[in-house]
Amino acid sequence: MDRREAIRRAMMGSAGLALAPYASGMIQPEQQLDFTAADFGDDFLWGAATAAYQIEGAWNVDGKGPSIWDTFTHKRGNVQNNENGDVSCDFYHSYPSDIGLIKQMNMDVFRFSTAWTRVLPNGIGQVNQKGLDFYHRVIDSCLEQGAQPWLTLYHWDLPQALEDKGGWQNRDVINWFEEYVDLITRTYGDKVKNWMVMNEQASFTIVGYMLGMHAPGKMWPKNFLPTCHHSTMCQADGGRIIRANVPDANVGTTFSCSPIDPVNEKKRHDKTTRRFDALVNRLYIEPPQGLGYPMEDLPMLRKMEKYILDGDMKRVEFDFDFYGLQNYSRMVTKSNGIIPWMAGNPIAPKNLKPRPEITEMKWEVHPEGIYDMLKYFDKYEKIDKIIVTENGCAFPDVVEGDFVHDKQRKKFYQDYLRQVLRAKREGVNVAGYFAWSLLDNFEWAEGYHPRFGLVHVDFETQKRTIKDSGLWFQEFLSEG
Ligand code: GAL
Repeated sequence: MDRREAIRRAMMGSAGLALAPYASGMIQPEQQLDFTAADFGDDFLWGAATAAYQIEGAWNVDGKGPSIWDTFTHKRGNVQNNENGDVSCDFYHSYPSDIGLIKQMNMDVFRFSTAWTRVLPNGIGQVNQKGLDFYHRVIDSCLEQGAQPWLTLYHWDLPQALEDKGGWQNRDVINWFEEYVDLITRTYGDKVKNWMVMNEQASFTIVGYMLGMHAPGKMWPKNFLPTCHHSTMCQADGGRIIRANVPDANVGTTFSCSPIDPVNEKKRHDKTTRRFDALVNRLYIEPPQGLGYPMEDLPMLRKMEKYILDGDMKRVEFDFDFYGLQNYSRMVTKSNGIIPWMAGNPIAPKNLKPRPEITEMKWEVHPEGIYDMLKYFDKYEKIDKIIVTENGCAFPDVVEGDFVHDKQRKKFYQDYLRQVLRAKREGVNVAGYFAWSLLDNFEWAEGYHPRFGLVHVDFETQKRTIKDSGLWFQEFLSEG
């Protein structure tokens, strides 16, 4: 029996359950962990996250319309090596076996997003039945295989037809977004109970509309500020529509967040530190809770006032059932007021001594950061429940026959999970953890080079191989 066959048999086991290669002695655990999955509790949710544009491919198949990411990636010079998501992981065709991987790793949840232009090719108006059918197939496959479908409504792929009408800067986007959310929730609401309105409002508004590094490649506060206010409105409206259309819905939304750590601890409460915190964290987390925009600490937000109409600040409030926390690293600031992003490096790790471990995204590995952010969210009275809806890292993998070794990723997950547990033990109501990402995929402006998957994808052949980190999850989660 060759190694591949041995591992396949070991993974399937006689009852079709995943028996780990660890158990079969094929992979040696390096060290005994000081915690188990059971420590997180029986009802803690484990899953892996994805996003439509990053995995689906089939960008113009079965009536799908173009999104801003199709347009952006088709223009030379916007993405590393001019790569794009035209084919990507071809999840459009391989979804049943890809969802099967969730179960092979003993996880409960498959987090994915719907592509707006698959179901409404022009963003509004004419509905594309074939697009709706695709997500029915995806959801049905999840339910058949015993994976819970967790659906994100907006993971950055605005319809190009709406961008042409002014996109997020045009207040009409509120009506457009409502039409889309209404369609999706009415269509799938009897089968999908767990919803996230948006993925990381901070990322797509700052990187896409202020820094111009993501689609649609716009820059400066004049584009960022209306985008920010209108998407805040959509986030709360989206929550209300889900609640109205889906009986028993669990309604959330997700936030990217980073601790802001000054190089010099004495500067923790100075203007620069507070300004970064306002821009990166508070601007997004606080409005739904009725705390408004943090204008005192980030004076540029005063220019947003002209987009805020009477009643808007009430309308941006919504009592989400859970807050999705997405953390990868931290930001280290120097008190010179310069936003490190402007230098093309969000974390500025070169300021740190000794030099920390850095991922392929040039982000610092800083496990305590996720603990800090869990505590940070927990301090807000109106945040009852938190789910880590994304956390992960890109490191080079070592492909060796039918194995993919990714020691650093495995350690990353162990170290971050230890910190999640630490927060949970201190009373933070964190109810789940979803790894980013199920598969290696199209990493936005970085293209295919940084690999975030628990599962390796050979983009030439579309072959999937569960990496050592994925096999570690399989083993870790089989104990519960
Ligand atoms: C998040 C984003 C994901 C993924 C990840 C890794 O900000 O939601 O789509 O790209 O970062 O960079």
